[in-house]
Amino acid sequence: MAHLIEMATITKILLQWYFKNGRVLPWRVSPKDAETGKTPDPYKIWISEVMLQQTTVSAVIPYFEQFMKKWDSVEKLSQAKENDILAFWAGLGYYARGRNLFKCARELNNKFDNKIPNDKKTLLDLPGIGEYTASAIRAIAFGEREVVIDANIERVVCRLFKIEKPIKKSKKEIREYASKLFPEFCSGDFAQALMDFANAICRPSKPICESCPISRSCLSLKLGEVENIPVRPIKRNIPIRKGYVFFTKVKPNKLLLERRPSEGILGGLLGFPTTKWEVKKNKPNLPFKANWTFTKRVVKHQFSHFKLELEIVIGEKETLEFDNSKYLTVEHQNFDLMSLPTLMRKVYAKAINH
Ligand code: ADE
Repeated sequence: MAHLIEMATITKILLQWYFKNGRVLPWRVSPKDAETGKTPDPYKIWISEVMLQQTTVSAVIPYFEQFMKKWDSVEKLSQAKENDILAFWAGLGYYARGRNLFKCARELNNKFDNKIPNDKKTLLDLPGIGEYTASAIRAIAFGEREVVIDANIERVVCRLFKIEKPIKKSKKEIREYASKLFPEFCSGDFAQALMDFANAICRPSKPICESCPISRSCLSLKLGEVENIPVRPIKRNIPIRKGYVFFTKVKPNKLLLERRPSEGILGGLLGFPTTKWEVKKNKPNLPFKANWTFTKRVVKHQFSHFKLELEIVIGEKETLEFDNSKYLTVEHQNFDLMSLPTLMRKVYAKAINH
């Protein structure tokens, strides 16, 4: 029982901390605004939570604001061109999400009168919405009781209760502790309190335990283990794949691009043509006639399951003699670099000043 009273105290302290120190963010309704009856917009919560799964809050803010200028409702998003959404998402670095977001908007338009449902099962059946996003939407947008757990919340819970296994192996335990902390009401505020607290105080490295309002209850701190928890998983050797990328200038002022096949990595996105990405670097088949220079410059990029190393080959062409729909050219001057995925932006940066 003492344990439960302690839990309620931790919850209360974190909520108070949040009301004083929580971040003002463009998708949030501040506690002050909430008092005047303002409620969060479920559409904004959905978009922000999908963006936040892959990038930090500070990186998301400008993207979120731009996104809202382009597509400020489910209806607008459902009528967008998929390629525009993919191009927008390319800058955020994780493309399958953009595709799912569009699919989801279409389904919300077709079946749900452009509204985000608040039923858990219905949410989970929508494209791109998993346990985390469904619970975050329900808690933050609709005020429903949920236990919301993301990587930041996992870190706080592991430290607070000194859970000494890698996070992947302690999901169940983390959920059990988190369920005891999450309050009956205002789960949304509490989830965001934990996220802001994890960002400001209980940081991944160098946590500021001196300023922590719940340090008295932190078992890891008591036993001098804060920096060792969460336990880092044993490093796997990530395989390396290699290949070539063809950065082709077409006179007078164009760059040659290719839309990648819709299946597979970077599916459907624009980029500079590449060879296959293989374990061994084989002499490449040049894709078409051009004045080619092998630069020996290598672009490195890490995907979730492998590292990629592509050597840049620069091509120069007088004209585009093929009307092959596989390739397209863009005017160098008014070409939006942000519509390319990160890997291809790195290629551009390394190739352009050769
Ligand atoms: N990370 C994921 N969701 C978040 C939110 N709503 N506020 C702050 N950080 C977050």
